[in-house]
Amino acid sequence: MNIKAENLSKNYKKKNSPDIEVLKNIDFLITSGQKVAFTGPSGAGKSTLIHILGLMDRPTSGKVYIGDIDCFAGDDEYLCNMRKKNIGFIFQFHYLMPDFTVLENILLPAWSERNIKLKQARSILKKVGLLHRQNHFPNELSGGEEQRTAFARALINNPRIIFADEPTGNLDKTTGIEIEKLLFENSSETGSTLVLVTHNEELASKADAIIKISDGQMSV
Ligand SMILES: Nc1ncnc2c1ncn2[C@@H]1O[C@H](COP(=O)(O)OP(=O)(O)O)[C@@H](O)[C@H]1O
Ligand SMILES: [Mg+2]
Repeated sequence: MNIKAENLSKNYKKKNSPDIEVLKNIDFLITSGQKVAFTGPSGAGKSTLIHILGLMDRPTSGKVYIGDIDCFAGDDEYLCNMRKKNIGFIFQFHYLMPDFTVLENILLPAWSERNIKLKQARSILKKVGLLHRQNHFPNELSGGEEQRTAFARALINNPRIIFADEPTGNLDKTTGIEIEKLLFENSSETGSTLVLVTHNEELASKADAIIKISDGQMSV
């Protein structure tokens, strides 16, 4: 699926202080199936941007089109459905639910259909190399295994777009490379669009395009 950002801006307001302009006039087009890396210094606005693209936050102005749909024209329920249907998101910290097993965590985004999704959940677990840990709890896993679980959870609804915000930022180099490989392979296999934020230049260089963000603006 295409993702188009049109003149996106995001400001934060605070009483008795000037507005903080976090994103300024961002414009780009990511075409269907592309693998794109956002890079830039800490505080540049990368997380704010990827959260907006992932429909978890609204811009102050501007538009995001996913496919042909002007997403923010919809209400929150619409955004939620759009997200569930089309988007998988991976964070730097996995945000797994500690009282749920690996298998249950993966089924959470599809909980009402968990019985019919069971087979698919196990096949995703196999793909990420964690089938043998399906009944374990997150605190019994290594950092890399936790992130694989988070990735598997992002795949359960067959998203056409995967967003990952510094997915390897909290992992050692070797484990990070394994996760990166999974992300890129999955995107190639399924034709889904991959949008990631990374500080890792080696990883960014594997992407089809790099978009640099600096001080809330795109730079070259
Ligand atoms: N809720 C908020 N209120 C005010 N400022 C915020 C808020 N969230 C983020 N910011 C500011 O936005 C800027 C960009 O943050 P972020 O998108 O997290 O950057 P990055 O991911 O590139 O490190 C930072 O200066 C941060 O302090
Ligand atoms: Mg960030």
